[in-house]
Amino acid sequence: MSDLSLKISSSIYPLARMRRNRRHDWIRDLVAETSLAAKDFIWSIFVRENSLSPEISSMPAIYRYSVDELTDAVGIAGDLGLRAIALFPVIESEKRTHDARELFNSGGVLYKAIQVLKKNFPHIGIITDPALDSFTDHGHDGLYINDDVPNDESVQVICQHALLQAQAGADMVAPSDMMDGRVGEIRKLLDQKGYHDVGIMSYAAKYASNFYAPFREALGSDHCLKKGHKRTYQMDPANVREALREVALDLSEGADCVMIKPGLPYLDVIRQVKDRFLVPTFAFHVSGEYAMLKVAAEAGMLSYEKTLIEMMTCFKRAGADGVITYSAVDMLKLLKQG
Ligand code: PBG
Repeated sequence: MSDLSLKISSSIYPLARMRRNRRHDWIRDLVAETSLAAKDFIWSIFVRENSLSPEISSMPAIYRYSVDELTDAVGIAGDLGLRAIALFPVIESEKRTHDARELFNSGGVLYKAIQVLKKNFPHIGIITDPALDSFTDHGHDGLYINDDVPNDESVQVICQHALLQAQAGADMVAPSDMMDGRVGEIRKLLDQKGYHDVGIMSYAAKYASNFYAPFREALGSDHCLKKGHKRTYQMDPANVREALREVALDLSEGADCVMIKPGLPYLDVIRQVKDRFLVPTFAFHVSGEYAMLKVAAEAGMLSYEKTLIEMMTCFKRAGADGVITYSAVDMLKLLKQG
């Protein structure tokens, strides 16, 4: 035994010892290629009508907020350094219709939330989604006619939704619907109506993903989703060249930034988009990714905090300029703690 250890200790003297740069905290920090800051996180939040319940069974510790609760929560998050939010409305099922009529109600909960937040926190960016799925009784992001989601008709309603959001005070619209040509049509309408300064963050490469299931539960669109999937407009997870084409199209139509969604299983897409287009590129760390982490942590299998920091670091290493995440406030707290 002692012979063996002698042999090992004398056998190698590598010139490059990679571990020198890993010996202490200070040197690890000094050589870190990627860092996280409060400005990297966009908080995705649900705002609900008062009659609905706050709990979301498949998203532990995430809540649907009333406008009042939302105002309190965003105030606290703002004090922690939050810079922007992505807002998703949850509408009573009785108000959901095949034509998404409720979105034309200017007193609706989404517009109210935008107005109240903008008034109270003018420095926090508000990003909204003009897709129709919160408002439709079939759960699709566009209209649903003859067992299909018709593209051009859907784009018209999505454009109206984007305009109403801009009129309420949204700083940026982020269309998640994956209809063809919608970025250009939204840009045209916003410009016509004088909203040149309202930006567009396009969900340029949005995949037909199973990781959205908890989000659909949160919205109440899981049970009603006609056909049970969105594969006729969202992308096939098998494809990446197609994602590059989607990004090129959205940029040519006037998108100011692009987003890849979901996040972690799609880091290769983020990297390729960032390298090729050199435009602000964001990742959506979606509901299913959040749920997997949270549930594993609650079962004592891993540390929520440490694993979250690792995940967010990986998004940035892959090329993301920022991450839309349900964990934004948790990240801000962790950054504060150092
Ligand atoms: C649809 C939309 C979805 C998400 C954001 N916008 C789900 C879907 O396409 O059905 C998913 C977000 C998440 O899972 O966190 N407009």
